[in-house]
Amino acid sequence: MTLSFAQINAKQVQVMKLIKKTILITGGTSGIGMELADQLLQRGNTVIVTGRDIAKLETAQRKLPGLQAFQSDASDPNAIAKLYASVIEHFPDLDVLINNAGIMRNLNINGARDLNDVTREIEVNLSGPVRMVQQFLPHLKAREGALIVNVSSGLAFIPMAMSPVYCATKAALHSFTQCLRVQLEGTGVTVVELAPPGVETPLFRGEFAEEMKGQKGMDVTVLVKAAIAGIEAGKIEIRPGLSNVLKIMSRVAPQFMFKQLAKVGKQDPQPTLRAAR
Ligand SMILES: NC(=O)c1ccc[n+]([C@@H]2O[C@H](COP(=O)([O-])OP(=O)(O)OC[C@H]3O[C@@H](n4cnc5c(N)ncnc54)[C@H](OP(=O)(O)O)[C@@H]3O)[C@@H](O)[C@H]2O)c1
Repeated sequence: MTLSFAQINAKQVQVMKLIKKTILITGGTSGIGMELADQLLQRGNTVIVTGRDIAKLETAQRKLPGLQAFQSDASDPNAIAKLYASVIEHFPDLDVLINNAGIMRNLNINGARDLNDVTREIEVNLSGPVRMVQQFLPHLKAREGALIVNVSSGLAFIPMAMSPVYCATKAALHSFTQCLRVQLEGTGVTVVELAPPGVETPLFRGEFAEEMKGQKGMDVTVLVKAAIAGIEAGKIEIRPGLSNVLKIMSRVAPQFMFKQLAKVGKQDPQPTLRAAR
């Protein structure tokens, strides 16, 4: 039987237990990636993380005994090819890929910007996962019960004007993930999108210290628990907290919500919209 797009996207995937898996997480030395690594290790999985900064990788390994780590830049195609060779050599049982590495900038397009720098988010947040999937897919297809998780954002559904390129990458990653799910139907590879709301991580605080002053994102432990529970419950699009609100509002009142988000950083936004990242 051929399923329609709507049926595939609404369908609950086969129930999967995240135990005794071999899991690769890009950007696993901080924030959501590191918390995923921690909780997945505690459940008896083999967990491998990547990141660019060797010192952060070493610190993560000291904090999380048993954690495996590779230095790799998700925006560099050659680094992805090398990562693939190393990971598959040392961990041939790899069956889960979590595309988590990402950057988010407060970027004013209405000002001078280096032409190479202005698209930086695209290379990391969009080209990174697309290339990782392309590189690892033949291996994953050969594994039983394989899983790809792409970490997008609630801002995939409604953009926040303060971060135009970031939001474009997350909307594009959402779109790519939907298409990938359709294309992989019948291969045995499950495709899940995790769209977090604002979460208390260095990304949330770093670039937006001023704008997010006095505001509270979701606790990273809570977010990751919801992500794991969602995957195990067979959800294909996991939208904790405000991300679900953004998804609903993108259907019922997109312009209203877009204007509300455009106020972030300009004036005091409504409390319910504050952490809608
Ligand atoms: N926090 C939020 O509010 C929020 C909300 C929605 C979605 N998200 C998404 O969740 C993901 C994780 O965000 P986070 O808040 O946990 O960020 P974070 O705390 O800043 O951590 C980002 C991680 O990605 C790594 N990374 C960055 N650029 C990389 C690259 N080019 N190649 C490989 N690794 C790279 C970082 O390590 P190195 O710097 O050493 O490379 C770090 O380990 C991102 O995709 C983000 O867009 C976050």
